[in-house]
Amino acid sequence: MSAPGPPLGLLAELTHRCPLACPYCSNPLELARASRELDPDTWLRALDEAAALGVLQIHLSGGEPVARRDLEAITARARAHGIYTNLITSGVLLDAARVRTLAEAGLEHVQLSIQDADPATADRIGGHAGGHAAKRAAAEHIRAAGLPLTVNAVLHRRNLDNLPAIIDEAAAMGAARLEVAHTQYHGWALANRAALMPTRAQVDFADRAVAAARERWAGRMAIDYVTPDYHASRPKACMGGWGRRFITVAPDGTVLPCHAAAELPGTTGERLTDKPLAAIWAHGADFERFRGTAWMPEPCRSCERREVDFGGCRCQAFALTGDPAATDPVCELSPHHDRVAALAEAPDAPPPFTPRRPGNHPASANQPEEET
Ligand code: SF4
Ligand code: FES
Repeated sequence: MSAPGPPLGLLAELTHRCPLACPYCSNPLELARASRELDPDTWLRALDEAAALGVLQIHLSGGEPVARRDLEAITARARAHGIYTNLITSGVLLDAARVRTLAEAGLEHVQLSIQDADPATADRIGGHAGGHAAKRAAAEHIRAAGLPLTVNAVLHRRNLDNLPAIIDEAAAMGAARLEVAHTQYHGWALANRAALMPTRAQVDFADRAVAAARERWAGRMAIDYVTPDYHASRPKACMGGWGRRFITVAPDGTVLPCHAAAELPGTTGERLTDKPLAAIWAHGADFERFRGTAWMPEPCRSCERREVDFGGCRCQAFALTGDPAATDPVCELSPHHDRVAALAEAPDAPPPFTPRRPGNHPASANQPEEET
């Protein structure tokens, strides 16, 4: 296959360390230890390589990227290369001084997550006492520093009924944009799927709440809405198509076509400590594996939407069929679509979720939800 154009964005997962324990996290169940994280100089070199490759945006993510003391240096290097810098954070480690040093380093945008509008519920979902109050304070610091703020809320069974209040909370925080996204079932979210799956009535309620809020906040706060895959009949073009627009670097330097690809069987996991970023992007086995349309099975191969949704999500196909090369079963043309429909039937009494913590593996230890 001929070399692709440059990636639009790079997702830099700087660390898997995080003070929160959200059950819907897309990080892998085996979280990378701090001792396996890339050192600061290697991240700076990665940014030099990303700039040479033509990357236009960097999303500084984790885990909680603010846990890295070199976040300012990484931000400044990206900015020096003219790369747009976006921080994706829980906000609980962001005091006024840290926001100021990040802004001085050239940070251009902050995406702040919230778990709910009600502090007690939010802290229970995030597994962090006082977390929501810290987020409200972080939002103030972000606005005071003159940084544009997007608030992000992941929706699931435990918070969907509060969606109108979540929307109002984002507006009160001063967000110019709100992203409300139904849970995508990868990593910890997949392990907690039965606990998080919304009812059909909740999904319908969310659709109406977003439509009403878009009218109410028109011209003041933009609202992006990511609809739930399991209640759909056509999949999304996950990552904008595999190996087409995005490149992910995991905390240990593994370079991947998507943040969840490490869990796919057959992933080679080349690292930027072993090979130039440009070589991995252009010809790495993991990137070439599902790039384009030649790998597709039927019904995708002869479908008119094959270059619209690129066969959907490879990680979802694996999670639902055991085969990462299968048509995403969210598609109603997939022979496995009935599995999705069955899983979208939320149980009357959902089980407790397992908080995301190192070693708290849902398959081996279904720890009770923690009081906060
Ligand atoms: Fe998309 Fe494949 Fe379904 Fe066609 S058959 S709509 S390409 S997932
Ligand atoms: Fe990996 Fe969709 S999350 S391809």
